[in-house]
Amino acid sequence: MPAPARTLFVTTALPYANGPFHIGHIMEYIQADIWVRFQRMQGNAVHFVCADDTHGAPIMLKAESEGITPEALISRVGESHRDDWKRYHISFDTTHTTHSPENVELAQSIYRALAARRLIATRTISQFYDPIKGMFLPDRYIKGTCPKCGAKDQYGDACEVCGSTYTPTDLIEPYSTLTGARPEMRDSEHLFFRLSAPEVAEYLQRWTAAPAPGQALQPEVFNKVQEWLGDGGRKLADWDISRDPPYFGIEIPDQPAGAPAKYFYVWLDAPIGYLAALKKHFDSGAARALGESRSFDAFLADPAVEQYHFIGKDIVYFHTLFWPAMLHFAGRKTPNNIFVHGFITASGEKMSKSRGTGISPQRYIELGLDPEWLRYYIAAKLNSHVEDIDFGPDDFVARVNSDLIGKYVNIASRAATFISRHFDGVLATPAESANDRANRLTISQMDAEAARANYEAREFGKVLRDAMKIADRINEAFDAAQPWVLAKDPGARDRLQTACSQALQGFQLLSVMLSPVLPQVASRVARELFGLSRDFTWNDAWAEPARIGPYRHLMTRVEPRQVDALLEAVPVTPDPSPGDGKGASEAPARITIDEFSRVDLRIARIVAAQAVEGADKLVRLTLDVGEAKPRTVFAGIKSAYAPEALVGRLTPMVANLAPRKMRFGVSEGMVLAASGDGPGIYLLAPDAGAAPGMRVK
Ligand code: MSP
Ligand code: ZN
Repeated sequence: MPAPARTLFVTTALPYANGPFHIGHIMEYIQADIWVRFQRMQGNAVHFVCADDTHGAPIMLKAESEGITPEALISRVGESHRDDWKRYHISFDTTHTTHSPENVELAQSIYRALAARRLIATRTISQFYDPIKGMFLPDRYIKGTCPKCGAKDQYGDACEVCGSTYTPTDLIEPYSTLTGARPEMRDSEHLFFRLSAPEVAEYLQRWTAAPAPGQALQPEVFNKVQEWLGDGGRKLADWDISRDPPYFGIEIPDQPAGAPAKYFYVWLDAPIGYLAALKKHFDSGAARALGESRSFDAFLADPAVEQYHFIGKDIVYFHTLFWPAMLHFAGRKTPNNIFVHGFITASGEKMSKSRGTGISPQRYIELGLDPEWLRYYIAAKLNSHVEDIDFGPDDFVARVNSDLIGKYVNIASRAATFISRHFDGVLATPAESANDRANRLTISQMDAEAARANYEAREFGKVLRDAMKIADRINEAFDAAQPWVLAKDPGARDRLQTACSQALQGFQLLSVMLSPVLPQVASRVARELFGLSRDFTWNDAWAEPARIGPYRHLMTRVEPRQVDALLEAVPVTPDPSPGDGKGASEAPARITIDEFSRVDLRIARIVAAQAVEGADKLVRLTLDVGEAKPRTVFAGIKSAYAPEALVGRLTPMVANLAPRKMRFGVSEGMVLAASGDGPGIYLLAPDAGAAPGMRVK
């Protein structure tokens, strides 16, 4: 085996182990996976790893509310994550968890190295404490009345009503959302990473300007980081890296005898999880199986090894400031670059971490949609910038059906049929001059080279646009030759064979180009159609196949109704994680009265109800909720109710559900109905006397 040209260590962000993936996670995995598969096809050695991010207060509290241990929670969620990685063909070489011996060892060793350089400071801070729960409260668990406008139940950092920002201590009548208790101010000793030390500021100026030879941060990321650094790095504040118990995390070593334990803040040990996953990758023999003979330490000590992290735009601060500084001052390899992507939204609706709305990747698979459609669609929208992308249902159908199937897959299905039927699978070797042949190969090589450069630069949208232009060129030449006419003319056999062979040669080029995006389809093309005993490598783009195997159907078109079904799945609860939908009978997590009262339940009168064309389950309801304007709500109750039978009925509705754009219009709430394991949907109804607009409590 020749020595690999480059050796890469690549990660995505480590997903929180608090629930199943949403489409934003999947988009990040698809982006990184395409890049990694491309690098492997170039003959580069890639070590692609990930891990679940398992520590911190939210995971601890969530486990508690479900009455299980954090370990049980993270192992259940971990299983669902691994299922999804597999189903979407995400080719991590090793996956691991931050709740692991490797991570404990590495986090403690990095901490000790920073302490030895006097970059850890101890300081007493005053913080809100919940006396009933017996714990210090992270800001997100404190609410109260806005000091500016008096709006009730606002979070500790900003008011959703008037938009002003403040700190939790500014809230009037603050309360703990965990118990409702009034929090007290208490002192506690915390450990800080001294980012404000002059040598740290100076280092970060250098790293952010040129993270590695030949590498630069994306311009928009660089600008943001410069703002944070301020003039000469003077704006950096020390970073609080410790938390008091109870906390689900890694204990901080070397604390004074007799003092209560302290834990690393989850964001300290999370990125170290990248290294923990890599260490497991080495210790398990997986790295060796990929041809890497060095130890974990020797590998990371090699300056030629390139380290890249794919992340979303919300966690840039951690990855461009904290992470490189931690690594550098602990005497370790620093990232060659951080590749930042924007957020994916569904029809313009922002997908939030906590709300998890939008398109469910689990339901996508359950409905039988093809994961490679989504890979193709997302790739078509991605570029090297930090731009948000939108999942549009019509756009999705169009890209898959017109481009992927209509332009690419069709080439093979049309041309291969003639070659199999009339030429027993044998392709024509074009009768051409050496010069013509060289020209033809050069064109293929130039197309492949443009794709190579675009993949390397993460300009996947460009790769696919170019691929579709090539597909147009191939289809036009094929149509111009009119093979269906030639096939009827015994004197035109050569021309028929040549036209089809050229189309298939082009199809091979396209398949190589699309391999990183469509790994399953490309693998089948390589093996079944072109008879290779392996997947494509990049040089196959201009190889000259001599024959093909029988064509077998590669991919179907997407039915718009499949996408409708995906969008109809309005989640009732934001996080279906108990059992992740597998054990439907498991009781949902316990919630506090405060959480329940966030749901604005109101009585509505159904003033009109119509069937929705193109969606066989949905009824469009017009609801009077005692407001100036009636609301429109789409409800999946058509199997149980004739629309006209609903008019005039009263029913409770969720009135503060975020509006949701569907293919047929915007749904402005949700009506409530009961259902069990069998068929049957039963709309709820209030007792006589209830009126539209009344609150249900
Ligand atoms: N656990 C941290 C990361 C630690 S890395 C050492 C975290 N986890 S997360 O589960 O909330 O997010 C994981 C990744 O998904 C992040 O890169 C985040 O930016 C990305 N996305 C979350 N929502 C997203 C979209 N709607 N769209 C695209 N990516 C999104 O943050
Ligand atoms: Zn306010």
